[in-house]
Amino acid sequence: MRTSALLMGLSLLSACEGRQSVLNPAGRDAQDVLSLIWVMFGGAVLLWFLLGVIFVYVTKVEPREMPRRWGEALIIGGGVIFPVILLGALLTYSLPMMKPQREADEGLKVHITAEQWWWRVAYELPDGRRVTSANELRLPTGRRTGLVLNAHKVIHAFWVPALGGKVDMIPGRETYLSFLPEEPGVYRGQCAEFCGASHALMAFETVVMTPEDYAEWIEAEASDAAKPASAEAYRGAEVFAREGCGGCHTVRGTQAQGQVGPDLTHVGSRKSLGAGILEMTEDDLSRFIAHTEDIKPEVAMPGYDHLTPEDLRALAAYLKGLT
Ligand code: CUA
Repeated sequence: MRTSALLMGLSLLSACEGRQSVLNPAGRDAQDVLSLIWVMFGGAVLLWFLLGVIFVYVTKVEPREMPRRWGEALIIGGGVIFPVILLGALLTYSLPMMKPQREADEGLKVHITAEQWWWRVAYELPDGRRVTSANELRLPTGRRTGLVLNAHKVIHAFWVPALGGKVDMIPGRETYLSFLPEEPGVYRGQCAEFCGASHALMAFETVVMTPEDYAEWIEAEASDAAKPASAEAYRGAEVFAREGCGGCHTVRGTQAQGQVGPDLTHVGSRKSLGAGILEMTEDDLSRFIAHTEDIKPEVAMPGYDHLTPEDLRALAAYLKGLT
């Protein structure tokens, strides 16, 4: 019994580590959140302990034995003065953290729109260009990036626990968040507001890079799609055109200019597929294209299980080659 309780406790603790945890901060804002958690927790433990002592004392002492003045002092001290001092101190500590979101450095800005159930991501470059992408966020270390958040149909919430707080994404209204990442790495984000059948399948990777790597990556991301590099990928591009995929998806530099679904210009270079739920491999690509609705219930894209295995493989090879 005791062993199983211990094992359960350990497994719960192990869940606190990793890429999606407030206990593993990788940026300034997440560090603030963690400090706030510990200070609040300490304050709560102190309050609980002192009230426990008072509770034990008053239940052990016969009411008549306690001088009236003592009783009044306990009520006023323990019930009014002590909570006011403690809660006042916690409030004073936490209020500065609620100041309006800090401005991004040098106008670094990313627009993120929550869709059903994926993320539309647009980088606003200093020269005014906009680079669209989807289902992955890339940020440089050491600089504050502003995130302008919006939603298309229903309310979602944006949350990367390792990088900062959580903010609602509301249709027709912009909300704002900014991150100052400090540790390069890949951190998982997740939609944190119930938004429909595939809410739990609405995740994304946040890739934090050194400023040099980031500068290189954003230039590559701004470029047009790579041309098919093999006979199979070339055939995949034909399947893509024939099936009308370009009616919903954009592949920059080709005829495909659809705006309904995720931008696929550099889809093959992303860390994950289907908004953080599958691996970016040719196998998972063809599985996702054939059985989209089974893998992601109620998503707008229909499954293409009428395609032959050869066509599916070719299509997957084409998309994987879009790096
Ligand atoms: Cu989007 Cu939950």
